[in-house]
Amino acid sequence: MNSHVSHVSFLCIFVFLLSGSALWAYGDKHPEKKKIQKHHWAAPPEESKRTNPVFLSDDSVLRGQTLYLENCTGCHGRNADGRGTDGKDMTPRPSNLRAMAGHHSDGDMAWKIKKGKGPMPGWEDILSEEEIWDLVNFIQTLKENN
Ligand code: HEC
Repeated sequence: MNSHVSHVSFLCIFVFLLSGSALWAYGDKHPEKKKIQKHHWAAPPEESKRTNPVFLSDDSVLRGQTLYLENCTGCHGRNADGRGTDGKDMTPRPSNLRAMAGHHSDGDMAWKIKKGKGPMPGWEDILSEEEIWDLVNFIQTLKENN
């Protein structure tokens, strides 16, 4: 009886170690995946593919900038680098939006702004659809200053 029990526990430990090392090896072979998962969450693919219905005009970027300064600087910082004063002790820290510019689709950003996650508020009940796309237009222009 005793030896049967120790066989079972040995097997459990073996399976545990095996799955642990498999996960470790996976993370190690995909360092870029590890990094992205840590800092970004994924919008549903059909949302990421949505094109921005608001033309990228100077007016739209200016409206986006005004909205950004009113609503987002506290956490994401004046330079949109994620270093706002209110975001200091947040887990996770507010994202560096400047670094995302040009690397994430308009649809991806718009969906995340609408829905929020954790300390990031959802804005769909506060801002209009058009205002959210203005914000996306503004954030995407920060790419040139990288
Ligand atoms: C109260 C603090 C706070 C405010 C205000 C805020 N954010 Fe965020 N935001 C966060 C945090 C924290 C995250 C990271 C959430 C996560 O990864 O779980 C985030 C994530 C994001 C992301 C997703 C980035 C990614 O990593 O994929 C976008 C886009 C974004 N914010 C845009 C905005 C915009 C635009 C505004 C203003 C309308 C805004 N945020 C206001 C805290 C805030």
